[in-house]
Amino acid sequence: MRELTIVEALTAVENASALDPLIDRVAGVVDAVVRPRALKDLLHGVPAGHPLHPVLVLVPTGAWISSAVLDFVPGQEKASRALVGVGVLAVAPAALAGFVDWAASHEQQKRTGLVHSVANLVATGLYGASYLQRVRGKQASAKLLGLAGLGAVGLGGFIGGHLAYRQALGANHAEDVPHLVSPGWHAVTQLDALPEGELTGLELDGQPLVALRRGDEVDVLSSVCTHLSGPLSQGEVVLDAGRPGEACVSCPWHDSVFSMRTGQVVHGPATSPQPVFETRVVDGAVEVRLPNAG
Ligand code: FES
Repeated sequence: MRELTIVEALTAVENASALDPLIDRVAGVVDAVVRPRALKDLLHGVPAGHPLHPVLVLVPTGAWISSAVLDFVPGQEKASRALVGVGVLAVAPAALAGFVDWAASHEQQKRTGLVHSVANLVATGLYGASYLQRVRGKQASAKLLGLAGLGAVGLGGFIGGHLAYRQALGANHAEDVPHLVSPGWHAVTQLDALPEGELTGLELDGQPLVALRRGDEVDVLSSVCTHLSGPLSQGEVVLDAGRPGEACVSCPWHDSVFSMRTGQVVHGPATSPQPVFETRVVDGAVEVRLPNAG
């Protein structure tokens, strides 16, 4: 079956490097506006364990779809106007969360994301105009503007689906690790071969691991960053991430920070924890086991 023309167009957008200068400017604005790391983590969805943007988008989308239904029901003008207004107001937090995620993405994702945001901006403008027409009592043009806005937000949603499912922005990029390593204990290196307090890249069943030795203790995580597959073994050890006595690793690509002991996300943009291996030392050999592997 042939793909829809819009999908072919989106594939072309992914490779449209002409968008990059504009992307750089918008990303600079996003970084300047959202500076506190705690706020960024919240908007990424770190406490929720997955991106916040898709949840926040439900409010304007739901309000606008509901208003479109009410526009066909006589006598519901006030209720429909209220829903349009709620939708316009709810765009701000949803857009902010989306832009923060977007600013920490690959270049192809940024190009698609820019078009996604333009479609949603157009939708918001149309709904804003629709609200004003409703206040003025011009119901016919208000309803037409609302329908046009619904078309634009539908297009934005389609592009968002492309971004999330085909380009995998927001997905857990280490979800398959437990299915790719064999169950049980495996020797992966000698304790003496691990430098103290430094990250070391290892491998198990073709899967990259990152290890950190502290004395006779060794912490081992999957080296595939859950955010966008960055190589954690090429990152840095972080000792002051706000977790006393706990060593963390920062990703070299977008600076997500994970606990080396638990794999938990300390700072985004990642929202999913790293697969964490159990470790033991047997006759000088470091052995690892991934719970639920296989
Ligand atoms: S790949 Fe983005 S933070 Fe690791």
